Amino acid sequence: MVHCSRLRVDGGAINPASLAFSGPLTEEELRSGLRTTLIGRRILALQETGSTNQVAMELAAEGAPEGTVVVAEAQTRGKGRFGRTWASPAGLGIYISIVLRPPIPSDRVPVITLIAGVAVAEAIQEATGLAASLKWPNDVLIRGRKAAGILAELDAEAEVVRYVVVGIGINVNQGLEDFPLELRESASSLKIGLGHEIQRTVLAQCLFEKMEAWYLRFLREGSTPILQRFEDLCINLSQEVRVRSEEGLLEGLATGIDPEGALLLRLPDGSLVRVLAGEVTLRKD
Ligand code: BTN
Repeated sequence: MVHCSRLRVDGGAINPASLAFSGPLTEEELRSGLRTTLIGRRILALQETGSTNQVAMELAAEGAPEGTVVVAEAQTRGKGRFGRTWASPAGLGIYISIVLRPPIPSDRVPVITLIAGVAVAEAIQEATGLAASLKWPNDVLIRGRKAAGILAELDAEAEVVRYVVVGIGINVNQGLEDFPLELRESASSLKIGLGHEIQRTVLAQCLFEKMEAWYLRFLREGSTPILQRFEDLCINLSQEVRVRSEEGLLEGLATGIDPEGALLLRLPDGSLVRVLAGEVTLRKD
């Protein structure tokens, strides 16, 4: 397990001074003391862009090496799932995209989203002490409200993956007033959870380290360890859920996640279905 120990003193307590607010996310700061060999080997730090995923997809298509990171202070067309936008106000969140070139068939790519979710939750926990949980497939929650999301996009031909871009948005120093009105009931940020601002650089470095550790472990050992960790952190398993997916609205018991990252749903008629993508709510909500 990776420990982002630069944040801690005396073997465990968090050093508040190291978490104080700092300036923009620069390549130099992100590189300083970074203990990865893959993620962040090339970093493009932008002041403002449409979408870091878009930039990373273009770089990947031009041959950017695995581990290339694109980060922006602000996004003007930040992409969320299902064609939604991701609110990306300047200087408040972490908006990052990572280029990966996993030697896996394209039907395993959904596991990469789960890896990113675990990496974000563990980085938040270690950098701030806040407990983060996961909602399949891509939401990271603080006290039940969404504080981060993941959007993985891929380029593949005949089941062979050329590259995957893992886009990660974390609400870090936003106050409630920084979210669009329609999100104020459901969104959160680390600042809201903690009651003070935190330094984005340290959290981003911690995220790179967690992401690298879990990604390399997945390539070595397959999906079992990461699925177990995801299931530990996941709040919508063993629950009666409602899933809005391309196949329509499904209701049933979420029983687990299969090796390709699909949600397994036991329907009222006893049959088991695999859901590859969808929006899950608990049925009591
Ligand atoms: C979601 O929960 O809907 C996914 C949100 C993903 C947002 C991130 S921010 C960095 C990267 N660039 C984008 O345009 N989107 C992702």
